[in-house]
Amino acid sequence: MNRSKLINSVLVAGFLLAISFSVYYYIQASDYQKKIDDATSQADLPTYHFVLIGEEMDHDYWRLVGEGAKAMEEKEDVFVEYEGPKRSNPDEQLKLLDMAVKSKVDGIIVQALNEDFLPVIDQAVEEGIPVITIDTDAPESKRSTYIGTDNYEAGRLAGETLLADTDGTATVGIITGSFENAHHQLRVEGFKDAIKEASDIKIVAVEESNITRVNAEEKAYQMLNNHPDITALYGTSALDGIGMVAASETLGRADSLYIIAFDTLSPNIDLLEQGKMDALISQKPYEMGHRSVELMLNLMAGKEVESVYHTSRSVVRKGDVHD
Ligand code: BGC
Repeated sequence: MNRSKLINSVLVAGFLLAISFSVYYYIQASDYQKKIDDATSQADLPTYHFVLIGEEMDHDYWRLVGEGAKAMEEKEDVFVEYEGPKRSNPDEQLKLLDMAVKSKVDGIIVQALNEDFLPVIDQAVEEGIPVITIDTDAPESKRSTYIGTDNYEAGRLAGETLLADTDGTATVGIITGSFENAHHQLRVEGFKDAIKEASDIKIVAVEESNITRVNAEEKAYQMLNNHPDITALYGTSALDGIGMVAASETLGRADSLYIIAFDTLSPNIDLLEQGKMDALISQKPYEMGHRSVELMLNLMAGKEVESVYHTSRSVVRKGDVHD
């Protein structure tokens, strides 16, 4: 074989090798594309896309609501977009609701914090998007149903518990999550109604915590300083109890104060077990999230739903079993 023939053969072999590599990679690439196409084909996408909007993403209570809702994706043909402001911010929450309406999702589950939410909920419904309220209701809106605690009755339960545990004699300070939000208003109203016949129980101060532990502590601290006669504290949102305990400890009053608050989150349970809190009103955040999606799927299937679904509430004291 002369030199030029050898060069030609090497070139041809190189060419054939390059072609076979190209063909091999082409087949590999189209397989990969096919896999992607398969995975994202319309048929594989969940039939329903719901949005669930809560008060605060970075919060154990709302994490449980989100987990309950997302768990439905495992068994049902649904994608749940769970969102909310990082820190409680009603305006941002309202914007998220507005965006969900504009995105034309199949269903919206929302905590209806205050009256500003009503027109947006109604607009969604008028545009054919069913709305379910969760945790906080807007009964005058066009929402299909509500799933969550009966907040008035939960407030009553707190009042009755305090009444029983203090033998009807107490000077009370209240820390509420917010003066503006419907559920906190109801929890205070129910509490006041439960104690209204008890002449030796009086409420001397009500402050708001904006649902943060730090604010709850600050407000409780000021309150206890301004009203040294306070013998009991009542907190209406999940982190108020922790703040109230911290303030009472700083002031050296932890042992003498009666403290009742909301939600059986683990830090609250710990304080209960340590005897620093006296009672908690428990709610069912996981169940709320889970059943909200179930109810929305019922609506999609054209099934009847009732106008309200109340999840259970109960009193938890030291040593009680909790979920
Ligand atoms: C309420 C929630 C609130 C949370 C804040 C709970 O008791 O039900 O609406 O976001 O407390 O701490």
